[in-house]
Amino acid sequence: MILKIITSNPGKVEEFRRALGGLGIDTEHVRLPYDEVQTSDLEEVVRKGMEEIRSRGIRDFIIDDSGLFVDSLRGFPGVWSAYAQKTIGNRGILRLLEGETDRRGRFGCCIGCDIGGETIIVMGISEGSILHEERGLGGFGFDPIFSHDGVSSFAELSPEEKDAVSHRGNAVRLLREELAKRLLV
Ligand code: IMP
Repeated sequence: MILKIITSNPGKVEEFRRALGGLGIDTEHVRLPYDEVQTSDLEEVVRKGMEEIRSRGIRDFIIDDSGLFVDSLRGFPGVWSAYAQKTIGNRGILRLLEGETDRRGRFGCCIGCDIGGETIIVMGISEGSILHEERGLGGFGFDPIFSHDGVSSFAELSPEEKDAVSHRGNAVRLLREELAKRLLV
């Protein structure tokens, strides 16, 4: 079986591939733009995205929507994370938090998987905080400013270390369990 990983982000493809290894599933990276509805809920974005992709006759795929939710910014950038990353970037988020002592935040990741027309939806969270400066060269997006333990940024972790604690790692482990049940691995 070939599962299409529909995303424009190569960083995510690698994370999915590592996590789904050993299930007897081949993966294929597909770049296929689809509308991301304007809503404050990651799951709703994913469900609508799946509907649109299926309406084009496509089956056996995964999509995900993820975002960084900062408590003192009332959840911003949240579902607008991609836009915030493109416009104000990590430095903009750091500027918004200047002088702020409550730096708690979390990454959320919702994955939608179509397997032969059946829907699997899983959600993963990674609790942490926003650092005071960018650190590390690995990862992508907000990785240099997010820390799960208040010490290392996600961009300072090896890919395997990030998988073990990240929102996408947590979500994809749940997806792996669901797929394993269906494929009787
Ligand atoms: P989307 O899920 O592709 O819409 O991602 C939303 C935004 O969150 C993008 O700008 C990503 O760079 C950022 N993002 C999503 N996942 C991660 C992650 O694991 N690390 C850092 N940034 C992330």
